[in-house]
Amino acid sequence: MKTSAFFAVLFASTTLAFGDVHGATLTSEPFGQTQDGKPVTLYTMKNSHGVSVSFMSWGGVVTKIETPDRHGKPADIVLGFPTLHDYETKSVDGGLYFGALVGRYANRIAKGQFTLDGQTYHLDINNPPNSLHGGNDGYNKRIWNVERLQNSGSIVSAVLKLSSPDGDQGYPGALDIAVTYSLGEDNSFRIDYSATTNKDTVLNLTNHSYFNLAGPGSPHGVLDQVMWVDADQYTPTDRTSIPFAENASVAGTPFDFRTPKAISRDLKVDNEQLLFAQGYDHNWVLNKHHGPDALEKATTLYDPASGRTLECDTTEPGVQIYTSNFVKGNYAGNGGIYRQTEGVTFETQHFPDSPNHPNFPTTELKPGQTFKSSTIFRFGVRRG
Ligand code: BGC
Repeated sequence: MKTSAFFAVLFASTTLAFGDVHGATLTSEPFGQTQDGKPVTLYTMKNSHGVSVSFMSWGGVVTKIETPDRHGKPADIVLGFPTLHDYETKSVDGGLYFGALVGRYANRIAKGQFTLDGQTYHLDINNPPNSLHGGNDGYNKRIWNVERLQNSGSIVSAVLKLSSPDGDQGYPGALDIAVTYSLGEDNSFRIDYSATTNKDTVLNLTNHSYFNLAGPGSPHGVLDQVMWVDADQYTPTDRTSIPFAENASVAGTPFDFRTPKAISRDLKVDNEQLLFAQGYDHNWVLNKHHGPDALEKATTLYDPASGRTLECDTTEPGVQIYTSNFVKGNYAGNGGIYRQTEGVTFETQHFPDSPNHPNFPTTELKPGQTFKSSTIFRFGVRRG
């Protein structure tokens, strides 16, 4: 359908029931029970261009994203597992957070400790010697309350809600969190995060999907995929992935993706940062041309073989790009055995260990304020 005709149809009717929005639908089905007997639901949003996003109430985990290649052939472009049991046993206990909604603090906090308003807080050391992704009982293991939203126009959405009590995971303040997942007819999967607190606290929320635009079983994982990152600086870290005092220029380093290049190109370069992390597992400091909170294009990924493209826009100041370095052939997922460099994450977020780095953009939230953050993953194809 031509664009003009498409929009004419789109605006002709605003009274369609949810799920009938010009081919865009949201369906749900049971996805089994957790090991402790709680029922979990799987939701699938689909648009009329063959793009679908599936997620579950357990951990807000994105289990599958299907998009067409340049010939219209669909494939699942995120790493995932067929069953809830796989997620509970492989994804979480293995510490790899496949598709997860991560919090209260995505990324690491040094030695599991930070001080706020003169009080020191102690967190789980689940990634010794640091705390990672909210500790042992991350938001990625909680059952989120999912509500369908009544949309008008060309978008389907669901809001995922979680109440995180004061002291949860060792953090101060009761948080009320709402995360909206939307799929548009423009082939965008949008995530809008919001949260309020009743006490001063810190937070950092993200999505931990591993993308592989080639789909399951691609022979080289993401190595041949071409990445662009709008960042002049990145955040070097020590051996335990905790940032040093200052960010560093990407110029002349393997971290320079300001001109698109294959992920493999500099991956094996002799570089201490790549050695420490066994690949890319770093925060890129986004350039933010239109202000610190602007929703701007941060990264792109292109798979020359399938033609699939991914654009990631975010309001966040940074993105942790992780080339699945610790996925080492020990995970059998939807796409067969997952190996190192099988997927790449774009964890849009504030910088690692910000509560201990006053020079980094703040992650503090106070009563009366509303935390807001948005990220868009936009899918497409390049024909030539
Ligand atoms: C971290 C990695 C970690 C991965 C899975 C990423 O956000 O930066 O170091 O292995 O999450 O836990």
